[in-house]
Amino acid sequence: EKGTYPHYMLKEIDEQPLVMRKIVQNYQDGEGELEIDSDIVKAMKDADRIYVIAAGTSYHAGLVGKQFIEKLAKIPVEVHISSEFGYNMPLLSEKPLFIFISQSGETADSRQVLVQVKEMGYKALTITNVPGSTLSREADYTLLLHAGPEIAVASTKAYTAQLAVLAILAEVTARGIGHEVDFDLVQELGIVATAMEALCDDKEEFESIAREYLTVTRNAFFIGRGIDFYVGLEGALKLKEISYIQAEGFAGGELKHGTIALIEEGTPVIALATQDFVNLSIRGNVKEVAARGANPCIISMSGLETDEDRFVIPEVHSLLTPLISVIPLQLISYYAALHRDCDVDKPRNLAKSVTVE
Ligand code: M6R
Repeated sequence: EKGTYPHYMLKEIDEQPLVMRKIVQNYQDGEGELEIDSDIVKAMKDADRIYVIAAGTSYHAGLVGKQFIEKLAKIPVEVHISSEFGYNMPLLSEKPLFIFISQSGETADSRQVLVQVKEMGYKALTITNVPGSTLSREADYTLLLHAGPEIAVASTKAYTAQLAVLAILAEVTARGIGHEVDFDLVQELGIVATAMEALCDDKEEFESIAREYLTVTRNAFFIGRGIDFYVGLEGALKLKEISYIQAEGFAGGELKHGTIALIEEGTPVIALATQDFVNLSIRGNVKEVAARGANPCIISMSGLETDEDRFVIPEVHSLLTPLISVIPLQLISYYAALHRDCDVDKPRNLAKSVTVE
């Protein structure tokens, strides 16, 4: 039930801090240490390469999850769009493990790939929000998101839950392999939950950003480098599916290879700057688009900010910034859709779970 909330989407955005805390609790052992079923950790350790298969927002979570797994557990990861994988299968490694990420666990495109890889004799893990869902039943292993039902078509709390579960999977696998993890993930996810609360309390600010940048525009761009690029892809998907504004996410460095031609007077460019090592270069990209008339909106992280930034998110561990930086983008999309009188929870032409090919 959405209670006093006008829309499920807003309620689900607000639930994110609580979901974070629930996930940590659900994946802790008696001593408070993060724990994953030992069969799953063994399957991860045995794999020489991991293939993540997903669609839409879950695919975007997979892109970030690749960073977690490669940086912490040091296992190579490929992330594939499920609808492409079947007829465009890459050369597989000798000992692959497949990870299916799906909020609903019912996405037809992903189910088809699961059937295919099972026929080939490979092991599969499903990360889903729905216990007993088809993908969960048909895979060898399941990890649950514990996010509670997600009703709005636009996925919000499932995305951040997917990121948290992927981070936990990466950390526990890293420890299982014997790689040192030089931070305390339980503590860092606690910091994330607190930062999420602060952002959810700042709704007026995001409403005003949406009003300022997105009320009249026909298009919008999201730019970032590294992990921020992947969050930009998710920001663009969120905005287009509920507000019908044509939105695209780009890697900052790729702009000059074509997209910059689209920049006109007033084009909104939302730039994410949460990563120290690319802070100067993404700001360089902002200057390039501003010089061509764009209306830049920089969202940075505390410690990396400058006077020109429109919003500064609280500081969290550099690997976990997507869990935080996506929230302004979710809220900006929500308000943009609202200001444009769109049906926020049930956008046109879309269904919550896509059970057809
Ligand atoms: O249930 P799934 O995670 O498999 O769904 C995948 C996509 O259909 C889904 O993420 C879709 O892109 C959302 N509407 C995005 O908000």
